[in-house]
Amino acid sequence: MIIRSTVPTGPLTARPAWKKLEAHYQKLRHLHLRQLFSDDSRRGERFALEAAGIYLDYSKNRITDETIRLLVQLAEECGLHQRIEAMFSGEKINVTEKRAVLHTALRAAAGESLVVDGVNIAPEVYAVLNRMADFARQVRSGQWRGYTGKRIRHVINIGIGGSDLGPVMAYEALRHYSQRDMSFRFVSNVDGTDFSEAVRDLDPEETLFIVCSKTFTTLETLTNARAARAWSLRRLADEQAVRRHFVAVSTNAGEVSKFGIDTVNMFGFWDWVGGRYSIDSAVGLSTMIAIGPENFHAMLAGFRVMDEHFRNTPFEQNLPVLMGLLMVWYNNFFEAQTAAVLPYEQYLKRFPAYLQQLAMESNGKHVTLDGVHIGYQTGPIYWGEPGTNGQHSFFQLIHQGTKLVPCDFIGFCQTLNPVGSQHDLLMANLFAQTEALAFGKTEDEVKADGTPEWLVPHRLFEGNHPSNTILAECLTPETLGRLIALYEHSVFTQGTIWNVDSFDQWGVELGKALAQRMIPELESADEPALTHDSSTNALIRRYRRLKSGRT
Ligand code: F6P
Repeated sequence: MIIRSTVPTGPLTARPAWKKLEAHYQKLRHLHLRQLFSDDSRRGERFALEAAGIYLDYSKNRITDETIRLLVQLAEECGLHQRIEAMFSGEKINVTEKRAVLHTALRAAAGESLVVDGVNIAPEVYAVLNRMADFARQVRSGQWRGYTGKRIRHVINIGIGGSDLGPVMAYEALRHYSQRDMSFRFVSNVDGTDFSEAVRDLDPEETLFIVCSKTFTTLETLTNARAARAWSLRRLADEQAVRRHFVAVSTNAGEVSKFGIDTVNMFGFWDWVGGRYSIDSAVGLSTMIAIGPENFHAMLAGFRVMDEHFRNTPFEQNLPVLMGLLMVWYNNFFEAQTAAVLPYEQYLKRFPAYLQQLAMESNGKHVTLDGVHIGYQTGPIYWGEPGTNGQHSFFQLIHQGTKLVPCDFIGFCQTLNPVGSQHDLLMANLFAQTEALAFGKTEDEVKADGTPEWLVPHRLFEGNHPSNTILAECLTPETLGRLIALYEHSVFTQGTIWNVDSFDQWGVELGKALAQRMIPELESADEPALTHDSSTNALIRRYRRLKSGRT
């Protein structure tokens, strides 16, 4: 059933709250954070929330109480309550693919029941988790041996998009908790360099490949998986070895066995798990092998805490809802094109890349759920790098450029790797950046430093650059789960306001189809008749000439 009741009627920009926000924006757009803070000495505490183990300080945003009131009203007018319930209860809110969206079921408490198409899916979810745990324990303990009897020392996850970014991000984030006598690598790109560099120092007898693909039809993943099989068999020289060195993670048993992996060695999941929302499913197998089943379950528990918070908390105190609404505020009223995510935590170095797929594949849409062309801005560009590195590259633009870039700063009060007082230095930088962005440095302050007149404009910081600060105690598996779910639900909130299907990704199809058509044109020995545009034809001809060394 396609849910119509949850789809708001009438265009977003005609809603009462939207109109009021437009008027409110006109009053507020020149108001400086300096003013807002000096008017209210408790602003830093009033615009802050602690829930689900996460502290969100959103006081350094260009908002007032009225802004929040209107944004919450907008969420209500857009049917966010109903959409949340529709998602959690398994309605088919992915309308273009006619699918339920139930990544939250992957981390539901044991014993919960959730019926999709007449089937209680909870026992299936736990059955797969138990099989994963069993396999992970065997590999970690050395009970699972390679074909020649050697212990598995290296695990390579082959996948792309959600079948790569989640696993690599979670592994990097939780590396501290990983089994250190094993190595974990991730191959995604169809560029042969990715595979070659991943295996160049490895022994096939000690290497296990996880071929991870929801569809099991993805060109990059199958190409790399074939290369992996050839690499393994060059040493192991027996097809029987494949079953000891290859496992699959997929929803597509048919394609898995066609590829030559015994479905006994397949870990399944379901079409109601979107690729970019799949880290809690069997897609997390490499993570589970790395950190162990107990830690993996702790991560799931973290997701669950945030799910419950999102589902049950009034919007004014709801972390993902507020973060989502603030993004709408900047995206649609301040016309911010991008959002920076800046983890002050080296272990989260792949978190911005992960969020790029989560946010941009979800909300980079140009039509509404009903297929009507949208006349307002939808998903912003997410980007970022860990602090403090970013400070020495792109922060200049955020501080003194002409663009408004709302920032999320993410930090932890305890480090996992104490080295002298380095953690204090790291956190001082995080706090200092949020302060500098918000308050800047006035002309008088610059002059008071003795700056010569001609240099004053260059050294001036206008400030008024908004940011959120997200603080947690320590980066644990549970905290990571909470953090990922925070962003998942923030993205969902945004998509609900923009009235888009946040769970399809038709925009990736055209490029795939054109590449398929082009492959023979690049590979064929005979000069092909090219019928593309003049630019593409010329590029192909040039490539063909130079790849074989002809000039
Ligand atoms: O091309 C985009 C996409 O479909 C993503 O949505 C997905 O995460 C990725 O490709 C990989 O797909 P699969 O897991 O089916 O190989």
